[in-house]
Amino acid sequence: MIPYGRHHIDEDDIEAVSEVLRSGVLTQGPAVEAFERAIAEYVGVKYAVAVSSGTAGLHLAALVAGITEGKKLITSPITFVASANSVLYAGGDPLFADIDPETINLSADKLNIALINDSEIRGIMPVHFSGLTCDMVAIAEAANKYDAIVIEDAAHALGAKYADGSKVGSCKNSLMTVFSFHPVKAIAAGEGGMVTTNDENIYRRLLRLRSHGINKLNDPYEFPQQSVENSIPSPWYYEMQELGFNYRITDIQCALALSQLKKIEKFISRRRDLVRRYNSAFSEFENCRPAQESECERSAHHLYVLRIDFNKIKLSRSELMLELRVRKIITQVHYIPLPAQPYYRKLGFNPEDYMCSQEYYSQALSIPLYYDLSDEQQGYVIQTLRELLV
Ligand SMILES: Cc1ncc(COP(=O)(O)O)c(C=O)c1O
Repeated sequence: MIPYGRHHIDEDDIEAVSEVLRSGVLTQGPAVEAFERAIAEYVGVKYAVAVSSGTAGLHLAALVAGITEGKKLITSPITFVASANSVLYAGGDPLFADIDPETINLSADKLNIALINDSEIRGIMPVHFSGLTCDMVAIAEAANKYDAIVIEDAAHALGAKYADGSKVGSCKNSLMTVFSFHPVKAIAAGEGGMVTTNDENIYRRLLRLRSHGINKLNDPYEFPQQSVENSIPSPWYYEMQELGFNYRITDIQCALALSQLKKIEKFISRRRDLVRRYNSAFSEFENCRPAQESECERSAHHLYVLRIDFNKIKLSRSELMLELRVRKIITQVHYIPLPAQPYYRKLGFNPEDYMCSQEYYSQALSIPLYYDLSDEQQGYVIQTLRELLV
């Protein structure tokens, strides 16, 4: 079977994980900090906090940014459910603005219209769809104008670059950026996430909330009189100062992710070559086109999404997916627009209010794209689509 996406593991990864297993420290050990430092250095940011998943990272980011009860945050309808769910976990209210049909990212124009019409929006969560960065300068301008904070959902975008060439995660135009290390992502930790920021107070709060709200680093005690016995500081003393979570990640996961990070440029470069070949092949097809054609050099190429005109071919999307599966090619759809999910419909959203997202959704199909996809396999995918898209 040729899946739509998968991770690549080599002997160095296995050795890195084995080292942790032999070391006697499975969690809260040196691999976590080493991975945090490596990501901070790679993306060019002051602070990085590793967490148990991208979803956990988004939840903490929303909480720390104050997107709590009565506060609204606006995001894209074309994303994984975790983006908007994290706002609900924090007690806030998610909203959506439609996508730009050429980039499949949150449209800056639609965002501005939403901000003009609703003065209660306090947060914006751009999602760098498939690793193609959003227009962060326009988004930051809108955020400044309407007094909103920006949290980047960069689950797809480790290794991607903004228009000015700087790396996603550097938080030049945002308060925080969140990555995911789920196996189909740029690098794999099994499960895992990272929040980056340049703000020390945000960093300290993320550290506390990741581990039950217990004081970290040199946080001052709120009840210092409890921390001493007979005037001697009690070595066991700690304070839970707010309600936090167990969103910690293990050293086993971080050792794997750190080993993977060393290969990220090679991973992205191979994906980019595969994308170029797909783009060139599909330019000759009549009934389909790449969903994101522009700015190919900057994207992290998490997915390869085709937009197929199903009105012009004999097969429906389900029939096409089944025919491809029979031929051992697995495809997927990213994503069902969030306002169409029953849970979000019950909150009052209507997918018809986001027509660019709906139109994109009716045509989208993610086809295989991953580091280990061979030239021969890719040729087979292209040839099979050539036969079926008629
Ligand atoms: C856009 C987006 N945001 C957030 C997440 C959540 O990340 P995780 O699976 O690490 O919790 C995902 C994961 O698929 C995603 O694609």
